[in-house]
Amino acid sequence: MVAAVAENGVIGADADIPWKISEDFQHFKATTLGHVLILGRTTHEGIGRPLPGRTTVVLTRDLDYVAEGVEVAHSITEALELADRLLEGRPGDRQVMIGGGAAVYAAAMPYADEQVISEIPLSPPGDTHYPEFAEKRWREVRREPRDGFTIVWWERVFACGGS
Ligand SMILES: NC(=O)c1ccc[n+]([C@@H]2O[C@H](COP(=O)([O-])OP(=O)(O)OC[C@H]3O[C@@H](n4cnc5c(N)ncnc54)[C@H](OP(=O)(O)O)[C@@H]3O)[C@@H](O)[C@H]2O)c1
Repeated sequence: MVAAVAENGVIGADADIPWKISEDFQHFKATTLGHVLILGRTTHEGIGRPLPGRTTVVLTRDLDYVAEGVEVAHSITEALELADRLLEGRPGDRQVMIGGGAAVYAAAMPYADEQVISEIPLSPPGDTHYPEFAEKRWREVRREPRDGFTIVWWERVFACGGS
């Protein structure tokens, strides 16, 4: 999961991201480039085109949905299975990236084993929020200050015998 999250949990407003931090866009690009990227239909349409250098899977419940240059899936499990098939021809790449928005982060959270979160030191008004996650089930493994924001890497803690 790759997301930029404000201090108040906001990730979006009016189908857009309520800040423009070019270094964070560069970080998103560098992190996702070359991988399979799962996006919600709203986020994909907000971007307006398939992101170059990535294989995009758009999640929608609309069985008739088609969009140029992207694959389409109708549930998170279908998207993850499709991503697995797309990765079969790519030895060495086992990473499936979840690029949002909020509905897709929430659907994918139970399947995720890593979160890369850009902490944005703002509290803008917004209508979409990053889902809550149980911090005791995740371990912060790296924290990197950047120009005006901080990137934090979280890994899921797999407890022996636990769920
Ligand atoms: N800050 C960040 O890092 C970041 C990253 C990405 C996006 N955003 C922001 O987040 C906002 C969009 O988030 P959002 O939650 O409104 O929309 P979204 O997650 O991008 O897309 C929602 C749509 O995806 C489809 N969908 C979602 N979950 C599904 C599931 N489990 N099964 C099948 N289809 C599913 C549905 O499409 P249909 O309606 O077609 O069925 C749903 O309406 C925007 O403001 C965007 O700019 C922020």
